[in-house]
Amino acid sequence: MLKSHKIHEEFRANGRVTIFKGDCLELLAQIPDEAVQLIVTSPPYNIGKEYERKLNLEDYLAQQEMVIQECVRTLSDRGSICWQVGNFVQNGSIIPLDTVLYPIFRDLGLKLRNRIIWRFEHGLHCSRRFSGRYETINWYTKTDDYVFNLDPVRVPQKYPGKKYFKGPKAGQYSGNPLGKNPSDVWQIPNVKNNHVEKTPHPCQFPVELVERLVLSMTDKDGWVLDPYLGTGTSIIAAIRHGRRGMGAEIFSKYIELSRKRIQQEMAGTLRTRPMNKPIYDPAINGNGLTTSPWGNGRPSAQMTMLDASRSNESS
Ligand SMILES: C[S@@+](CC[C@H](N)C(=O)[O-])C[C@H]1O[C@@H](n2cnc3c(N)ncnc32)[C@H](O)[C@@H]1O
Repeated sequence: MLKSHKIHEEFRANGRVTIFKGDCLELLAQIPDEAVQLIVTSPPYNIGKEYERKLNLEDYLAQQEMVIQECVRTLSDRGSICWQVGNFVQNGSIIPLDTVLYPIFRDLGLKLRNRIIWRFEHGLHCSRRFSGRYETINWYTKTDDYVFNLDPVRVPQKYPGKKYFKGPKAGQYSGNPLGKNPSDVWQIPNVKNNHVEKTPHPCQFPVELVERLVLSMTDKDGWVLDPYLGTGTSIIAAIRHGRRGMGAEIFSKYIELSRKRIQQEMAGTLRTRPMNKPIYDPAINGNGLTTSPWGNGRPSAQMTMLDASRSNESS
């Protein structure tokens, strides 16, 4: 059933949606201790995007530490933090941000439950290293008594027809009818130009990625907070499943975009890629571009090249 909620501009304990215009530390200062069930975010990666001032790594980490400290204060005892990051590039060398942020979370007493690999297929083509096709979501909890609902996020088994072949259950299906654990490697298309959710924002979350976190780590009516809201994806995933959502964003144009997308979500008109939709396979779908113009296909063109270099070596 669709629900229309008032969109507040400040934190309201009895509200359901807040979009705060300004620095996330100002929104965090309004939130009482232990009020939030899930904090999910993709902070600026310090790679010089239009919305970030490139800092040296130490200053970046010091800034992140202030925000993370406040997040931990507002997190409920049964709550989770999911910090989604990629790589920082310095003088051509990559620094995986989750590894350098980890000590901040650890020193604040949080426990790392999973380092989820988010794998996707589209991005820059590198010529001096292998092209980057994953980022990480580090999932931390405050205590050992944390919310974790696996059933709503199970995925179809590869062999659902498999049966026990011996023992007291011989002949019965061995898999869970609700599906299997989605594991810690998630293949979810990233939001690039031909993705149904694409907006002018340079790096938005796919809604289905946040839905999996919301469904597994929160209960109905719990608060979901995204300190770096961007296009409002975390709030969309939260309200879609009966949770409450809030976030901060410094740019007016993204505040407006969030507001519009959240209103569309409440009206039931926001187009999103459904959770667990199989990944598009252009070859299976008969896309003519999958036919190689290089004779018998790329491997044979590559073998010809390799054969040529081998025969040069032996001559
Ligand atoms: C990586 S993007 C997040 C995109 C978001 N996950 C989505 O799905 O649209 C980071 C966002 O944080 C915003 N931002 C940067 N510094 C901020 C701050 N101090 N407080 C609040 N928002 C900030 C940027 O303008 C940008 O839109």
